[in-house]
Amino acid sequence: MAAIVSLLIFSLLVLLSISSFVNALNLNYYDHTCPQLEPAVTKAVKKAMSNDKTVPAALLRMHFHDCFIRGCDASVLLESKGKNTAEKDGPPNISLHAFYVIDNAKKAVEALCPGVVSCADILAIAARDAVALSGGPTWEVPKGRKDGRISKATETRQLPAPTFNISQLTQNFAQRGLSVTDLVALSGGHTLGFAHCSSFQNRIHNFNASLDVDPTLHPSFASSLRSVCAAHNKVKNAGATLDSTATIFDNAYYKLLLQRKSVFSSDQALLTSPKTKALVSKFASSKEEFEKAFVMSMIKMSSITGGGQEIRLDCKVVR
Ligand code: HEM
Ligand SMILES: *[C@@H]1O[C@H](CO)[C@@H](O)[C@H](O)[C@H]1NC(C)=O
Ligand SMILES: *[C@@H]1O[C@H](CO)[C@@H](O)[C@H](O)[C@H]1NC(C)=O
Ligand SMILES: *[C@@H]1O[C@H](CO)[C@@H](O)[C@H](O)[C@H]1NC(C)=O
Repeated sequence: MAAIVSLLIFSLLVLLSISSFVNALNLNYYDHTCPQLEPAVTKAVKKAMSNDKTVPAALLRMHFHDCFIRGCDASVLLESKGKNTAEKDGPPNISLHAFYVIDNAKKAVEALCPGVVSCADILAIAARDAVALSGGPTWEVPKGRKDGRISKATETRQLPAPTFNISQLTQNFAQRGLSVTDLVALSGGHTLGFAHCSSFQNRIHNFNASLDVDPTLHPSFASSLRSVCAAHNKVKNAGATLDSTATIFDNAYYKLLLQRKSVFSSDQALLTSPKTKALVSKFASSKEEFEKAFVMSMIKMSSITGGGQEIRLDCKVVR
């Protein structure tokens, strides 16, 4: 009996270690197959940044969208084909851009080690570089993601919306194994980049039946948002930067949030629960604490397993 039990336990352990071997990402994944991978990606990101300072924000948001739909499997990079409308052509694609940076990095990597490195890994590395090259922290990216073959515009509904309240945000993150600490730390991604008027329209016009403007917005900040975004805004690409230093990765986002000068309802919502509010205060008063938490949460987010199964040759199309 004891022998059977230990045999069962032994086989279970073997199975577990095989399955974790299959799914687990690791830091040395390409050490033998593509040792020059990371410098090649960094070079492509640097080059693009020198021509366009909005590139880092774009890459960070692209990676977030990738990981939140079907796991980090480069589904965000696929193009619509035939009757299938891909994620990148789905509704909240507003401001997703700079896909060419990933294409250029992939070309460089294919020239070095053909058919070996997934687009999902390249995107994860590029997002890390985007943060580091903007003055933020750096970290080692676990690798070994596979590229998926499915990308559906309708699934972009699974992304959190800028109108979400704290319970909706918490639930959306929890569905991906991410905690409220991850929610607050990763919202710090809004230290980079820009939002179009449509993303914060709800706060500055017709807030509710009795108020035009969200009373949680600082009045002068609300006026400045209203001055760039008319009620029936027709100015293409009108909007606001997400913090006062939109090309620098710092903790200004949290400082402004405490002053009620953040752009989205979903940012403001982080002040509505004691736990998330305490984290906002902590990150506002310490850039180091923010960076430490951001790195841990990024590694967690970028390790959300996808159903990927292949290495694409062109990041825009399945093999
Ligand atoms: C917590 C839930 C989140 C919501 C509701 C949210 C929502 C949004 C919205 C609506 C925009 C502006 C789109 C536009 O109008 O152009 C935006 C931009 C951005 N988001 Fe988030 N986001 C969230 C979390 C994140 C996370 C986790 C990251 C990365 C760690 C991130 C990084 C960014 C960046 C960098 C931009 C600027 C993009 C650019 O300038 O091209 N966001 N986000
Ligand atoms: C976003 O989606 C719209 C259709 O919903 C599409 O026309 C547009 O090209 C997409 N934008 C990007 C950057 O892919
Ligand atoms: C958040 O919004 C949902 C959906 O509108 C609502 O059911 C819930 O009560 C709200 N929660 C909070 C804390 O406001
Ligand atoms: C509008 O929002 C304010 C602030 O949240 C609230 O006090 C008020 O009751 C709301 N009015 C209506 C009609 O919902």
